Amino acid sequence: MFCFFLALLPFASVGQSHKNISLGSSHTAQAGDSTWAVSPSGNFAVGFQQIEENGFLLSIWFNQIPQRTIVWSANGGNLAPKGSKVELTSDGFFLLNDPTGNRIWSAGSSGSGTSHAAMVDTGNFVLASQSTEYLWQSFDHPTDTILPGQVLNQPSTLVSRYLETNYSSGRFKFILKDDGNLALYTTQYPWSSSNFNYWNTNTSGSDFSLVFNQSGVLFLRANNGSIISMISSNTPSTQDFYQRAVLEYDGVFRHYAYPKSSNSNTRSWKMAWSTVYYLPPNICLDITEDYGSGACGFNSYCTFDDGKKSCHCPSGYSFIDPADVMKGCRPDFDSQSCDGSSPETDLFDFYEMENTDWPLTDYEYFEQANEDWCRQDCLSDCFCALAIFRGAGCWKKKLPFSNGRKDPSFQAKALLKIRKDNSTFKCEGPVRKKDKSKLIIVISVLLSSSVLMNLLLLVAGFSVVYWWRSKSSKANQPSQSIVGTCLRSFTFEELRKATNGFEEEDPLLRPSMKKILQMLEGSIDVPAPPDLPSLITTISL
Ligand SMILES: *[C@@H]1O[C@H](CO)[C@@H](O)[C@H](O)[C@H]1NC(C)=O
Ligand SMILES: *[C@@H]1O[C@H](CO)[C@@H](O)[C@H](O)[C@H]1NC(C)=O
Ligand SMILES: *[C@@H]1O[C@H](CO)[C@@H](O)[C@H](O)[C@H]1NC(C)=O
Ligand SMILES: *[C@@H]1O[C@H](CO)[C@@H](O)[C@H](O)[C@H]1NC(C)=O
Ligand SMILES: *[C@@H]1O[C@H](CO)[C@@H](O)[C@H](O)[C@H]1NC(C)=O
Ligand SMILES: *[C@@H]1O[C@H](CO)[C@@H](O)[C@H](O)[C@H]1NC(C)=O
Repeated sequence: MFCFFLALLPFASVGQSHKNISLGSSHTAQAGDSTWAVSPSGNFAVGFQQIEENGFLLSIWFNQIPQRTIVWSANGGNLAPKGSKVELTSDGFFLLNDPTGNRIWSAGSSGSGTSHAAMVDTGNFVLASQSTEYLWQSFDHPTDTILPGQVLNQPSTLVSRYLETNYSSGRFKFILKDDGNLALYTTQYPWSSSNFNYWNTNTSGSDFSLVFNQSGVLFLRANNGSIISMISSNTPSTQDFYQRAVLEYDGVFRHYAYPKSSNSNTRSWKMAWSTVYYLPPNICLDITEDYGSGACGFNSYCTFDDGKKSCHCPSGYSFIDPADVMKGCRPDFDSQSCDGSSPETDLFDFYEMENTDWPLTDYEYFEQANEDWCRQDCLSDCFCALAIFRGAGCWKKKLPFSNGRKDPSFQAKALLKIRKDNSTFKCEGPVRKKDKSKLIIVISVLLSSSVLMNLLLLVAGFSVVYWWRSKSSKANQPSQSIVGTCLRSFTFEELRKATNGFEEEDPLLRPSMKKILQMLEGSIDVPAPPDLPSLITTISL
C-alpha cells in the first residue's frame, strides 16, 4: 500500500507541472536541478539548473535529453544562490528573489492583465492573459539561442555565453540591426559594444525578421513575406530531431540537431547534438581586427577543422588560464635584454611555424629581404619577438601578437623567437630560478671548501652588498656596470635561506659572513666596493 503511493508520487508531480502556473506560485532553488514547469510534450522545462555548489541558473532547457542544454536564462546568465525563489506574484510579476527576499531580477512586464504563466512546447516561456495573449515571452528576450518557431524582429541581439559552462555574457554577438543587416561581431569585452564585424548578410531594409520556422529553416524575411537571405536550410525534419541555433562562446553560430529517438530516419545520426550548419565559414580567417586579440587570445593561434575552432599556444608559450583560452598565452621565458652591453643574441633562437601568421601587428617591414637576413635582424633586435617571412618580405612583431591563425592557404613562415634553454635567468650559469636546491648545493660546497674559496665568496659577497645597496639608492642604474650580470640571480633572501642565515661552522668565515649580513640588513655601513688585495688585508687582520 505504502509502496503504491511512493510509486505514484513522481507521476503526480510531473502531471502537475504540465498545468499552467497560476498567480502566486513560486519555486525555490534547492540542491540539484529542479523543475518549476515542463511543457505539455515534456520537451522543455523551466526551473533552476545547479551550475556550481552555491550557484543556480533560472533557465529553460531541453528536458528529454541527457546532455544539459540550456536555451534561455534569466538575469544575464548570472547565478543565484541556493534558496533563491522564482515567483509569479499574485499581481502578475515574474521575479527572481534571493534567499533574503531581495530582488535579483524581474521580467520587464507590467503584470497587469496576467492570468497565468506557461511553459510552451516550442521552448517559449510565456506570461499570458485570460485570452491567452502573450504579455511577455522568453522568445522576445533571447540569450544566445533561438529555437524553431522563434522570430526575432529588428533590432535583436544574441550574445554568446562566456564559456561552455559559464552563462554570463561573452565576447561575441549576433545582431539583426536597425538597418536590416544581419551580422556577427566581436565585442569590446567586457563591454558589449561592437568591435569587429566578422560576417554579415549585406542586406538593408526595414521590418525584417530573422525566422527559425517550424520546419527548422532559418532565414531573413521581409514584412511582405519574401525571403531576403537564406541562413540555414539544409535541415533534417523537426519531427525527428530537436533543433536549436546558438551563438557559441567560441564565436561560431551553429545550427544543431539531436535525434528525438532512434528510428529509420535518424539511424545514421549519433545520439548527440550534431552541427547542421555554421557561420562564419572560417572564424580563424574571418576575424582580423585592429583592436583585440582576434578569434583566439593574444599570442595564441587559431585553427579551424571540421567546423571546430581551437586555440593553441606556440612552442615556448603556455596558456595563462587553460580553462579560458581566450585569455591568451604568455612566454615561458624572460624576454631578451635590451642592454646593449649584453645583447643576449646568442641565447635566442627561432621556432619555425609553416602556414602560420599573426597579421596586423607589425612594427617594421622589409620588402627585399632574404630569410637569413630576416632572422639575424630579429635576433639582434630586443623588441622583435616574432618575424614573418614570405616571398622576400620580412615583417617584425612585438608582444603581444594578435589575430594568430594557422591555415594551409597561408603561404608564409612564422619565425618565433624563443630563449634557447628554459632558464628564466638573463645569464648562463648553473643556477635556475626554479631550482633553488642547486643554489644551495653550490653555496654549501663553497662554504665547506678551502679558505681560498671562502675568500672568493667574500669578494662576491661584498660585491653583492655593494650592488644591492647602490641599487636601492640609485634605483634605475643598471647593475651590470657594477658587478657581473649573473650576480643579480642571488637575492639577499636566497643567500640567507641557502646558508641558514650564514650560520656555518667555519671559524674564519663566520664573523665575515655575519658582517655581510649586517651590512645587508643595513645595521652597519657599507664600505666602497673592495678590490681583492684590500679585502684580503681586511680579513687577515
Ligand atoms: C491555461 O490557461 C488558459 C487560460 O485560462 C486556458 O485556456 C488553458 O486551457 C490552460 N491550460 C492548461 C494546461 O491548464
Ligand atoms: C563567468 O565568467 C565571468 C567573467 O570572467 C566571471 O566574472 C564569473 O565569475 C564567471 N562565472 C562563473 C559561474 O564562473
Ligand atoms: C557580404 O559582402 C562581403 C564583401 O563583399 C562578402 O565577402 C560576404 O560574403 C557577403 N556576405 C554574404 C552573406 O553574402
Ligand atoms: C519554412 O521555410 C521553408 C523555406 O521558406 C518552407 O519551405 C517551409 O514550408 C517553411 N515551414 C513552415 C512550417 O512554415
Ligand atoms: C518584398 O520586400 C522586399 C524588401 O523590402 C523587396 O525587395 C521585394 O521586392 C518585395 N517583394 C514583393 C513581392 O513585394
Ligand atoms: C624546455 O621546456 C619544454 C617544456 O617544458 C621542453 O619540451 C623543452 O625540451 C625544453 N627545452 C630545453 C632546451 O630544455
